[in-house]
Amino acid sequence: MKSSRISGFYKKTVDERKRIIKEMYPFTEEELEEINSNAPLTVDTADKMIENVVGTFQLPLGLGLNFLINGKEYIVPMVIEEASVVASASHIAKIVRDAGGFTADSSERVMIGQIQVIGCQDFYKAKAQILKQKQALIQAANDAFPSIVARGGGAEDLDVRILNEEADSKYSTMLVVHLYVNTVDAMGANLINTMAESIAPLIEEITEGKVYLRILSNLADRSLARARCVIPPHLLTTGDFSGEEVRDGVIHAYEFAASDPYRAVTHNKGIMNGIDPVVIATGNDWRAVEAGAHAYAVKDGKYGSMTTWSKDLEGNLVGEIELPMSIGTVGGATRVHPMAKHALQLLDVKSAKELAQVIVSVGLAQNLGALKALATDGIQKGHMSLHSRSVAIAAGATGEMIDIIAEELVKLKDIRVGKAKELVEKIKI
Ligand code: MEV
Repeated sequence: MKSSRISGFYKKTVDERKRIIKEMYPFTEEELEEINSNAPLTVDTADKMIENVVGTFQLPLGLGLNFLINGKEYIVPMVIEEASVVASASHIAKIVRDAGGFTADSSERVMIGQIQVIGCQDFYKAKAQILKQKQALIQAANDAFPSIVARGGGAEDLDVRILNEEADSKYSTMLVVHLYVNTVDAMGANLINTMAESIAPLIEEITEGKVYLRILSNLADRSLARARCVIPPHLLTTGDFSGEEVRDGVIHAYEFAASDPYRAVTHNKGIMNGIDPVVIATGNDWRAVEAGAHAYAVKDGKYGSMTTWSKDLEGNLVGEIELPMSIGTVGGATRVHPMAKHALQLLDVKSAKELAQVIVSVGLAQNLGALKALATDGIQKGHMSLHSRSVAIAAGATGEMIDIIAEELVKLKDIRVGKAKELVEKIKI
C-alpha cells in the first residue's frame, strides 16, 4: 500500500530510501538504478534534445513526502539545488495532512494560440469576417493536427481582439486572433504553433491584412489549477509560538505581499521554489510556467501574491492558490528524458489536470513553509540545522552520530567542518 508518510526518511541512506521506494512501486531494478545513477540522461539522448551538446548537467532529485491531495497519496519528485526546500514542503504537507489534506481542482484545459494581423483596411470589418468564418477556421486548425482531435481535444473556439485602435496610440493597430485549443494531456506548444501557422494564410485571405506572429500565449488563464488547505491553529504551534500567533503571523506576511510588489516577488519566488522542482522533474517547460504564474499575479492590475491566507470563522488558517499551469504528461521531454518518465511514475498521476493540481499544492505548501518560518524563528534557523547535518556528514559522522553532532553544532553556533571533526573524534573515544 503506497503512503507518502514515511517517517524518518531523511535519516536513511540513499540505498535505504531506494529500497523503501521499491517496496511501494513496481519499479524494476534497472529503473531504480537509472533513478540513482549518475547519468540517467545519456549524452546521446541529450544530443537529440538540443543543439551543440557537449554533456549533461545534473541537479539533486529529492522526494516531497506527506502529500495528501483530494484524499490521494502523492510522493512528489522535486529537482532543485536549494537546501531546505524539500524538507520544508514535506514538513508543511505533514501539517496539512493532519488537517485532512489539500483539496485541489482545475478549470478546463484550454491553451491559447495568438495570430497577429497588421494592415487591414478596416479592422472592424476584418474582425466580423473572421467571426463569420469561425467554424471553417476551427476546422482548418483541427485538420492541421488531427491526432489531438482523436485524443478528445483540438481547437474549440476562436476570438478576435483589436489592439491600439486609439488614434493617438504609438503602436500599430492590429488584429489578434485567439485560437482556443483543448490540449488534453499535452502542454500543447507544438500543436498550437502548428495550428496557428496553418490557418495564417486563410486569415490573411479573410482579413486582407498581413499575418506576422503565430504563437502560443503563455498566459494560460484557461488552464488554471487551484489548491486549498484549512489548518486548525493547534497544528501550527512552533517552539514558543502558539498556533494562533503563527496563524496571525502568516496572515500578516500574506498582507505584506498583497500590498507591496517588493515583498510579493520574494513571496512568489518562495512559491515557485515548490512549483519549479516538480515542473522540472516531470520534464515540463518551467520558463512557461514561471512566465504564466508571474503574469497571473498581476491579474488585479498590480503585481501581488500568488496565494491568499486568511482566517475562517472557526479560527482556522485557510490557504488558497490559483495559477495557470501550462504543463503536460505526454509529449516533449516528459517522455524523452528518462528521469521525467520515472518522476511521472512516482507521482502516479492520470492526467495533466491532476499533475497541475499536485504542482499548485506543492507551491501552496512551500509558501506556508517560508511564511511560517519567517513569521516565527526566521528563515536561517531551519537552514542552519539542515546545513549542520551536511557539515556533520562531511566531517565523517555516520548513522545516529549525524543528528547528535548536527544538534551540537547548532547549539555551539559554530557550524564548521573543523568543529564537526573535533566532535566526531570526541564521540569515537
Ligand atoms: C528563499 O528561496 C525563499 C524565501 O525568500 C521565500 C519568502 O521570503 O517567502 C524564503
